[in-house]
Amino acid sequence: MSDEPIISDYKYIFQKDIFRGKVAFVTGGGTGIGFTITEILMRHGCDTIIASRKLDVLKNAAEKLSKATGQRCMPIQMDVRKPEAINRAIDEALGHFEKIDILINNAAGNFLCPAEQLSFNAFKTVMEIDAHGTFNVSKAVFDKYMKNNGGVVINITATLSIRGKFLQTHAGSAKAAIEAMTKHLAVEWGPNGVRMMCVAPGPIADTEGMRRLGGNRITDEFVKAIPFQRLGKREDIANAILYIASPAGELLTGTTVIADGGAWLTDSNNFWAVKNSPVYKQLSKM
Ligand code: HXC
Ligand code: NAP
Repeated sequence: MSDEPIISDYKYIFQKDIFRGKVAFVTGGGTGIGFTITEILMRHGCDTIIASRKLDVLKNAAEKLSKATGQRCMPIQMDVRKPEAINRAIDEALGHFEKIDILINNAAGNFLCPAEQLSFNAFKTVMEIDAHGTFNVSKAVFDKYMKNNGGVVINITATLSIRGKFLQTHAGSAKAAIEAMTKHLAVEWGPNGVRMMCVAPGPIADTEGMRRLGGNRITDEFVKAIPFQRLGKREDIANAILYIASPAGELLTGTTVIADGGAWLTDSNNFWAVKNSPVYKQLSKM
C-alpha cells in the first residue's frame, strides 16, 4: 500500500458531490501534493486518472485513494516528456472514462543547485519535465477532448521566479514559462470553453519538494518570517484547486493563484550571505 497520507478528518467547504460525474487527469498524482489534490477531487465525487513514470507507486496510490473515497482512480504509466506515451495514456483514459473535464499538470522535477554548477543537461531536464511536460499533456488533452468539450487545466507552478530565488534558476525558469504558456493558451483556447489557470504553492509541509529544498533546515525563524507564520499544507493547495475547478471559478482564466500565506513577500533571498555561509556547500549538493 502507498505511504502517502490519507486525510483523516477532511472538513467539507464545498458540496460533497460538486464533481459528481466529472473526470480529472492528474500528472504526478501518485505522490505528494498531486496525491492530495486527487484525494480531495475524489472526495467530491470525481473519478480520476493518475499518471507518472513509476507504475508500482501509481497502482498503490490508486488503490488507497479508491478505498478511501469510493471513487474510481486509474493508474497510467507515462513520462510527460514523451508525446507518444502521452497520446497513448490519454487514449486509454478516454477509452475508459469517455471524458477528461479537469487536467492538473502537477508533475515536476527539482533540486537545489547554483547556476554555475548546473550542467546543460540538468537545466534541460527540468525545463523538459516542467515546461515541455505541461505543454505536451495540455495539447494532447485539448486535441483529443477539450477542443470540442471545454474543460479546466490547472498548472502547478511556484513563486520562485517572482524575485529570482537563488539555487533555483532551472525550476524558476520552467515555472515562469508555464505561467506565460497559461496566458497564451487561455487566449487561444478560451473560445473552446477551456479555462487555463495556475496555482503557485509556497513551501508545503510533508512533500518531496520541501525535503529537496531544505526540509531538514526549516527553523522557527523561517516559519515566523512567513506572514501567516505557518507552512502550507497539501490540503491548502487541493482546496485552491477545488475552488478554481468548480463553478465558483467559472470566470477565472489566464492567471495564477498564489497559495503561500504570503511567504514569497518576506522570504530571505540573499545569495551573497548564503554563498559565504558554511551551509552553502551542503546546499549546492542537494
Ligand atoms: C545538480 C543534478 C541533480 C542535482 C540531477 N542532476 N540531480 N544536477 N544537482 N541534485 C542532473 C544530472 O547530473 C543530469 O545532468 C541531469 O540533471 C538529468 O539527471 P537524471 O537523473 O538523468 O534525470 P531524470 O532521471 O530524468 O530525473 C529528473 C530529476 C529527478 C529532476 C533529476 O530528481 C526526478 O526525477 N525528480 C522528480 C521528483 C521531484 O524532483 N520532486 C520535487 C518536485 S518539487 P548530466 O549533465 O550529469 O547528464 C518542486 C518544488 C518547486 O518542483 C518549488 C518549491 C518552493
Ligand atoms: P513530488 O511528490 O515529487 O511530485 C512530483 C511528481 O511528478 C511525482 O509524482 C513524479 O512521479 C512526477 N514526475 C516527475 N517527473 C515526471 C515525468 N518526467 N513524467 C511524469 N511524471 C513525472 O513533489 P511535490 O512536492 O508534491 O510537488 C508537486 C508539485 O508542486 C510540483 O509541480 C512542484 O513543482 C510544485 N510545488 C511544490 C512545492 C512544495 O513545497 N512541495 C512548492 C511549490 C511548488 P514519478 O516519479 O512516478 O514520475
